[in-house]
Amino acid sequence: MSYLSHLICSHCGQIHAADQLIRLCPDCDHPLLACYDLDKAAREVDRDALAQRPADMWRYRELLPVRDPRYIVTLGEGGKPTLKMEQLGREMGLSQLYIKDEGQNPTGSFKALGLAAAVSRAIELGVTEFVIPTAGNAGGALAAYAARAGVTAHVYMPGDAPLINITEVQMTGADLRLVNGLINDAGRAAAADAQVGGWFDVSTLKEPYRVEGKKIMGYELAATFNWELPDVIIYPTGGGTGLIGMWKAFAEMEAMGWIGPKRPRMVAAQSDGCAPVVKAFHEGKTVTDPWENASTLAGGLRVPVTIGGEQMLRILYESGGTAVAVSDSRILTAQQKLAMREGMFVSLEAAATVAALETLVTDRWIHPDERVLVFNTGSGLKYRLLLT
Ligand SMILES: Cc1ncc(COP(=O)(O)O)c(C=O)c1O
Ligand SMILES: [Zn+2]
Repeated sequence: MSYLSHLICSHCGQIHAADQLIRLCPDCDHPLLACYDLDKAAREVDRDALAQRPADMWRYRELLPVRDPRYIVTLGEGGKPTLKMEQLGREMGLSQLYIKDEGQNPTGSFKALGLAAAVSRAIELGVTEFVIPTAGNAGGALAAYAARAGVTAHVYMPGDAPLINITEVQMTGADLRLVNGLINDAGRAAAADAQVGGWFDVSTLKEPYRVEGKKIMGYELAATFNWELPDVIIYPTGGGTGLIGMWKAFAEMEAMGWIGPKRPRMVAAQSDGCAPVVKAFHEGKTVTDPWENASTLAGGLRVPVTIGGEQMLRILYESGGTAVAVSDSRILTAQQKLAMREGMFVSLEAAATVAALETLVTDRWIHPDERVLVFNTGSGLKYRLLLT
């Protein structure tokens, strides 16, 4: 089953035992990353034989943290398609434009991947009560997986979150707390109550395993492109787990000899109403500063304080990537364009990747024949209707 070996701190490099319930690095309070016995995996896991397994996230179970398969809580997450966008590509002058459609996941967003991994592993380690601060989709996913596993979820969400996120949490019977403020305010309230209640807090990057579920997107797209990664990946960046997860997946795959050293240029797309990563990147900084008065219709990008800032910036610099902020009006236009040209009703966060792509094409940062991949991280059906 899992080849999980230990945890390593993303900041100070300290090693910690994997088979314990742990959140941040006890030495420096930075995110921990899961490490696997990749030599053993290189010897024993045949990347091409994996295609014989069911096409879900657990196809890559040796590289996921759950040791005993009985603890896997699944709703069929993972294995969602990468689709070529011919019409939109032609319109933008790109011959190889693709989208990975994570909106087809359970609960309608890619948050299912991270929460399936984190909930399964935490239950294996004895957790029965979870708490999460969320812009909306992660809360919906936690509520669903907790219900499926018969455990308790407490979900802290900004009061102005999309009605569908409120409804999907309420439907499961989870404890929903609407918070006056943004996701970081929800995070403060959740952390305080978690301490009192003894609940396990699965905030973004504050436990090691959500990123493990998200990294599977990196494995899947490598397999899709016959183990040669795209030239450019544009990711809608809030807390950044997908970006961090995919980069980790690439390193693991190279260590196992599944892919070569070539990496995509990684691009963080944000809204100009909340763009701490874009700002820090263009100022050449190694950490992000809190964003004042964060405001964007793309709720998943409204993350003013990011614990993963240091990791994300390292990836953007190392990959020769960049970071692009786009306005909400351009996000809405891109959302409509994806629906009209490709029949895909995507989330606003995902639409930001296409708006960012337009900027990069205009700036000639992308060559017309490069293979470019954008992400649909959530279904457009989950959003409130906007009368614009
Ligand atoms: C649909 C959607 N896309 C993107 C994001 C941002 O994801 P991450 O926090 O991994 O950067 C979110 C987060 O809430 C989301 O719900
Ligand atoms: Zn540390």
